[in-house]
Amino acid sequence: WGKEGHYMVCKIAEQYLTKRASNAVLDLLPPAAEGELASVCSWADQVRFRYRWASPLHYANTPGVCNFKYSRDCHNSRDELDMCVVGAINNYTTQLLNYKDSSNGYNLTESIMFLAHFMGDVHQPLHVAFEADEGGNTIDVRWYRRKSNLHHVWDVNMIETAMRDFYERDVNVMIESIEKNITDGWSDEVSQWKACNGDSVTCADKYASESIKLACDYAYKDVDEGSTLEDDYFFSRLPVVEKRIAQGGVRLAALLNRIFSKKVGGN
Ligand code: ADE
Ligand code: ZN
Ligand code: ZN
Repeated sequence: WGKEGHYMVCKIAEQYLTKRASNAVLDLLPPAAEGELASVCSWADQVRFRYRWASPLHYANTPGVCNFKYSRDCHNSRDELDMCVVGAINNYTTQLLNYKDSSNGYNLTESIMFLAHFMGDVHQPLHVAFEADEGGNTIDVRWYRRKSNLHHVWDVNMIETAMRDFYERDVNVMIESIEKNITDGWSDEVSQWKACNGDSVTCADKYASESIKLACDYAYKDVDEGSTLEDDYFFSRLPVVEKRIAQGGVRLAALLNRIFSKKVGGN
């Protein structure tokens, strides 16, 4: 996602944090965050040049198939295992589980800023997509009259257009609308979004599997190099964007609540 997408994911997450998790998050955030997780959710994009090793941690790619397999797909270009968005979520979660163990050598301020960002990215369908087109980055399209690429349409353009046409150009109005959907429209599903009975603490594997399926069924569907994407595409895909933002937020909060459910409260 772009800046607005990440902001929305983290703003939604803030609403679902337990008191304990919220205190731990406040304790770890840098002073510049001014107590707001959402204000540092794009930090990982801002340091992309300083931390070049972290670039592959924003996504995972498959060899042109519509399923995600960790052992096959979670690596960087040098074939180092775990160097993808799913591995990163698991890794930063493990680091944060050592919160309050002052001898753990990690910078947990960076860990939480990475984790919050990558929980957003793993929900962007084209962040778990095809290697050959770099998650749609090499597929040039038009978004209405403007030149864009398929990846950018999902990171930024659909959210921008939705804000302009439906939400008074105000990200907070869009957030409120998504939150209303969480409590009304999607309320039956939300407990299942949060459920994580898999073999990892994070269930990031599951979120990646959902993303590549949505990439195939919605993002790539009926799109070719040079396509013009407009109303038909926008109206059929925007609901997917909004639901993925909602799931990212709810699940980020659930994960932070789990991480900080035990060890907080000591000295
Ligand atoms: N670069 C290569 N693949 C990518 C993807 N799926 N998402 C974002 N950037 C990428
Ligand atoms: Zn992206
Ligand atoms: Zn990112």
